[in-house]
Amino acid sequence: MQNQNIRIAIVGATGAVGAVALNLLAERDWPASRITAMASSRSAGKKLPYAHGELTVIEATPDSFEGVDVAFISADSSVSKRLAPEAVSRGALVIDDGSAFRMDPAVPLVVPEVNGADVEWHSGIISIPNCTTTPLVMALAALQQAAPITRVTVATYQAVTGTGAAALRELDAQTSAYAAGEELHASVYPHQIAMNVLPHVDDFFDDGYTGEEHKMINETRKIMHLPGLPISTTCVRVPVPTSHSEAVHVEFERPVDPEEARKLLSDFDGIALVDAPRSNQYPMPHTSTGRDEVFVGRIRKDLSHPNGIAFWLSCDNLRKGAALNALQIMDEVVSRGRLQTAASTT
Ligand SMILES: NC(=O)c1ccc[n+]([C@@H]2O[C@H](COP(=O)([O-])OP(=O)(O)OC[C@H]3O[C@@H](n4cnc5c(N)ncnc54)[C@H](OP(=O)(O)O)[C@@H]3O)[C@@H](O)[C@H]2O)c1
Repeated sequence: MQNQNIRIAIVGATGAVGAVALNLLAERDWPASRITAMASSRSAGKKLPYAHGELTVIEATPDSFEGVDVAFISADSSVSKRLAPEAVSRGALVIDDGSAFRMDPAVPLVVPEVNGADVEWHSGIISIPNCTTTPLVMALAALQQAAPITRVTVATYQAVTGTGAAALRELDAQTSAYAAGEELHASVYPHQIAMNVLPHVDDFFDDGYTGEEHKMINETRKIMHLPGLPISTTCVRVPVPTSHSEAVHVEFERPVDPEEARKLLSDFDGIALVDAPRSNQYPMPHTSTGRDEVFVGRIRKDLSHPNGIAFWLSCDNLRKGAALNALQIMDEVVSRGRLQTAASTT
């Protein structure tokens, strides 16, 4: 079966992730006739640019999934919980970008380069991880080839598009207001994000961690099949449009030489090294935006631990952190013959 025969629905096509998913499909020359753009009733009838033409958005309803082979859902959790079972019952594979099903033991949570084989046991829904988890597990999967990992500590520097299209508009508006010497208004975040940094991503739990921090911990353990992995996270929102960065400290069962780490990371599918700090070469959100790779650099011995390595990464949260990973999951399912379509049963 040709990939392009698959009939795709993008639920949330008007959002930040949905827009990138459409760009990626256009880059693949996916025929517009095989894509249904869906969103809420508010957007029904809206035209979205696609390749050299446009797509007309329809409201996502249970019946709109008739004839769809793969439904990518990039809306909030309540939408996923309501619509995913409807899409599955109409024969579609759902690849869900949100957190609704990620920790459901019956739903694979997949980064193809790390645990692609987990798509084998899907029963209709596959989840993608949080956009901070994906680049982290790729780096950890590369490094654990050197020695078992005993502890991970991460601090994130997360772009506003991680919150969605409205947050980007807020950063733009606040930045313009700041430049004009006007008052800054905050509605998406509890404080201004322009000229500021918020140690606050998602809601706070009783243990002092946030929902985002718990997601990184739980999702990393699930994807890596390491349920007891000691991992601590601090998630921070920064005034960057796109691409999340992370400062990562990893401890191993034995010392791992930074050169060995460099080799393992650069050989890993989907990771690119940018590691010449003395000539100012290191990963940055500015240079990783629009790119597919997870960029890793600043690789060094952790001076505080004999078996520790420290590094820095940056990754486009809308591409590999969301839409690209979702499309790669579809590719993985197809290549393993695990997609049922009306046209084919491969
Ligand atoms: N942003 C990231 O970096 C990232 C990364 C990984 C995963 N995700 C996940 O991807 C999902 C979407 O994120 P986003 O950043 O793209 O959000 P967003 O920019 O706020 O877009 C939300 C989308 O959901 C649609 N929607 C809202 N209510 C709907 C409904 N009742 N039925 C159908 N569609 C509805 C919206 O359509 P309207 O325009 O009609 O309101 C819009 O297209 C979230 O679950 C998020 O957790 C995001």
